[in-house]
Amino acid sequence: MTDHHNHQEIDEISGVETTGHEWDGLKELNNPAPRWWLWVFYVCVIWSVGYWIIYPAWPTFGGATKGTAGWTQFTKLEREQAEIAARQTQYLGRFHEASLEDIMNDPELYSFATAGGASAFKDNCATCHGTGGAGGKGYPNLNDDEWLWGGRIEDIYQTLLYGIRAPHDDTRISQMPAFGRDGLLTRAQVMTVADYVSGLASASSGNDHPGYTIFQEKCASCHGPEGKGNRDFGAPNLTDAIWLYGESKDVIFRTVYDGRAGVMPYWKGRLDDDTLRQLTIYVHSLGGGEAGESVNDSDFGPTIPDAGQ
Ligand code: HEC
Ligand code: HEC
Repeated sequence: MTDHHNHQEIDEISGVETTGHEWDGLKELNNPAPRWWLWVFYVCVIWSVGYWIIYPAWPTFGGATKGTAGWTQFTKLEREQAEIAARQTQYLGRFHEASLEDIMNDPELYSFATAGGASAFKDNCATCHGTGGAGGKGYPNLNDDEWLWGGRIEDIYQTLLYGIRAPHDDTRISQMPAFGRDGLLTRAQVMTVADYVSGLASASSGNDHPGYTIFQEKCASCHGPEGKGNRDFGAPNLTDAIWLYGESKDVIFRTVYDGRAGVMPYWKGRLDDDTLRQLTIYVHSLGGGEAGESVNDSDFGPTIPDAGQ
């Protein structure tokens, strides 16, 4: 066994004394710590003493030394929360004064609106439309650019204010009739026209289909002669592959036989107007938002065509 401390070995190459520590033939040189390192060390020691005096530092039986500055995490949190609240009221004030158009053109207000709208959406809309607005059977997907009632800012705002087939005087009311149940068409006719409709998306239904005439007489007033839909009546486009209720011939038969009347609640008076405008902008931002004037902002009650009754 070697005694390291009395072993005064000098390294041949550097001429520096070794510590006697050796690993696989590598020897540790006994160089002093660099001067700059020592200075940093001393400064840290002095700084930490100051820190103990000014800030809470040492644990005591009653908690910890309080420090002369009176700093606590609680006061820090309070100060930060007050800052956030001040910033929010500043935005809310501006938001409150701004028109929907102003908001769309102001990036700050716009992101304020989409953030607020996203959280209000989770609270009020996600139960029916899904967390991300992707919808489900009977509940329209709000992310795509297929709209029943229109995807312009004003359209969405109106939908939110008054709902669809909701118990409000200004609600959107037009509705798909129950052709079979109400005897407007025989069961066989409903089957024929359902067969015609189920082939529209794949373009396999032509004018020579026996359902074509029925469609022109009974359905075209709302869905359009080509089945492309009409937003004035909330009548879906039947030629794309997007289905609110389902694409199978059975489901289409049910729709035509019994009718459909999806209900979207109205929110005017239930949510404050700033929240409703935030929601409007949020929904518009989801992916299908359309630019420009509303298709039917002039009068909220388009005349509903009769279904050939
Ligand atoms: C109780 C279920 C329900 C809730 C809650 C609900 N909706 Fe709806 N929403 C519907 C249904 C059903 C429709 C489709 C109505 C129809 O068939 O025309 C709809 C339609 C819509 C439309 C029109 C879509 C289009 O294609 O034109 C928008 C926009 C909309 N909802 C947004 C919202 C927002 C925003 C909220 C939250 C404030 C909300 N909805 C809450 C059921 C709901
Ligand atoms: C008075 C207007 C009106 C007439 C007439 C009408 N529809 Fe509709 N139709 C609607 C509305 C509105 C909806 C959407 C119902 C809803 O949102 O709950 C609809 C929905 C449908 C759907 C469901 C589409 C989907 O995406 O799931 C089918 C299919 C359909 N109609 C077929 C027909 C056929 C076939 C006829 C003729 C026999 C017809 N409609 C006549 C208004 C009409």
